[in-house]
Amino acid sequence: MKTWANVNALYQIYPRSFKDSNGDGIGDLRGIIDYLDHVRSKHHSLGIDAVWISPFYTSPMVDMGYDVSNYTDVDPIFGTLADFKELVQKAHNRGIKVVIDYVPNHTSSEHPWFKQAIGDPKSPKRDYYIWRKPAPNGAAPNNWVSLFGGSAWEFDPLSGEYYLHSFFKQQPDLNWENPAVREEMKNVLRFWLDLGVDGFRMDAVNHMAKDLEWRDEPLREGGVEGTYDGHVRKYSKYGPQLVPYLRELGEVIEEYPDRIMFFESIVDGSIGPIAEQYRMLYDVNPRIGVPFNFGGMWLPWGAKSYGDYIREFQGMLKPGEIAGYCFSNHDQPRIASRFGKEQARIIAMLLLTLPGIPTVYYGDEIGMENVPVDPSQRTDMSAQSGVFGGRDPFRTPMQWDSSKNAGFSTHEPWLPVAKNYKRANVANERRHDGSFLTLYRHLLAIRNHDETMKRGDYRELLIDETKNVLVYERTYESSTYIVALNFSNKQRHVTLPYDAHHVILTTNPVKQPKTHTHGRITLRPYEGAIIFV
Ligand code: GLC
Repeated sequence: MKTWANVNALYQIYPRSFKDSNGDGIGDLRGIIDYLDHVRSKHHSLGIDAVWISPFYTSPMVDMGYDVSNYTDVDPIFGTLADFKELVQKAHNRGIKVVIDYVPNHTSSEHPWFKQAIGDPKSPKRDYYIWRKPAPNGAAPNNWVSLFGGSAWEFDPLSGEYYLHSFFKQQPDLNWENPAVREEMKNVLRFWLDLGVDGFRMDAVNHMAKDLEWRDEPLREGGVEGTYDGHVRKYSKYGPQLVPYLRELGEVIEEYPDRIMFFESIVDGSIGPIAEQYRMLYDVNPRIGVPFNFGGMWLPWGAKSYGDYIREFQGMLKPGEIAGYCFSNHDQPRIASRFGKEQARIIAMLLLTLPGIPTVYYGDEIGMENVPVDPSQRTDMSAQSGVFGGRDPFRTPMQWDSSKNAGFSTHEPWLPVAKNYKRANVANERRHDGSFLTLYRHLLAIRNHDETMKRGDYRELLIDETKNVLVYERTYESSTYIVALNFSNKQRHVTLPYDAHHVILTTNPVKQPKTHTHGRITLRPYEGAIIFV
């Protein structure tokens, strides 16, 4: 198995939607085991070296598993601990590393710790959570707002105190100031590390540490009191203790060889310079800590916006630090729906030719789009808060083949399957040279061929704002590739710095771009090309 420094990408599996093996309409661990070949095998696979599996722990599923009621067991919906052990073993046999989600900021309100804490204010578990007395007028202790809407404080009539929940009220925040909580949560890491997991995706870490004086969040200019975006969120997250907490966790993880932690760290421009927040997260533990870079999720379309963003981020990294570009996940609209199908092919080429460990969200490799979900079928409760507008459309079943329910399940799936599944599915796309899947496979083959895409230098060659073209070079030792991306809907001529015309891959499903000697290349509308120098 490769070491993390050589891993080509991370493939995010949303277990509810990957593959249902027992016919209940919900994906499960056995389904993942059965379909590992798609990730990495000798023939027709994506060729990705690592998977990240979103939560499969015991949970009432108020936040689809991000509300954990037992950190060290598998929810029966997904299978058993024995299934998980088998999954790790079979993944490792194929050379696939396994990353799992770790949810440190909050438990479920059904977790035994919280049940004791709320049931008996004198219980030793009380201080596992964050309790505050009401404000003098009986209102919530301060003006903090939950990401999912409404006050972040819930009143507990038994004790007359409020508890804090940065997300749903069924997700009470843990009190990381309490050393007993830190010990418990470190033992959770050890439990899974002992089972052989290769790393953790650390959920919502920026919320773990709060302002120790519990100050009100200032209003933004024009911001509306009581709304999440109305405030500068400088006190409810990124507290002064964040780095020490994460370091403590890193120390445990580092006791095991070649492990990693990916931080879900939504850097927030309203608090201060974004580069400083990334710097802080890299400095937690530069050997094993990688913050996801989500910037590419919210950029407007265009060569300049992407080019500037990559230059700034790469410029901030120190040698040896791994970039963690992540342009889509279970919380954000599908790339193909954000920008369009042709445009999504450009984004695929961009993502998989950037340094570090990029994340591929399941289904993006077959060009999956947001699937409309009727309000009566909605499962994501954040839809009601209006903050996310509901994340169900980006979590729909994987489209494996053209059989009923796209081969995902023999039962009616928990969310609807995309209407176009008879065409857009793995089995079909494997057979077609021009498909999304073939493009992803070729991109990953180049990423695998040598170390250049993973560890080589990134050098910007051209950002042409008017022509909407971005060109960059990737070099490692004696190997050099040029990537030329035409973000415009017009044909563009690009002059390369070398007499290079060996185009090895284009996003265009039909033909290679026209090249001439003296390093001139003609890109079709929305075409990207990789040129080997
Ligand atoms: C993260 C997860 C999201 C979840 C939230 C609360 O942002 O990605 O799905 O709702 O944390 O755990």
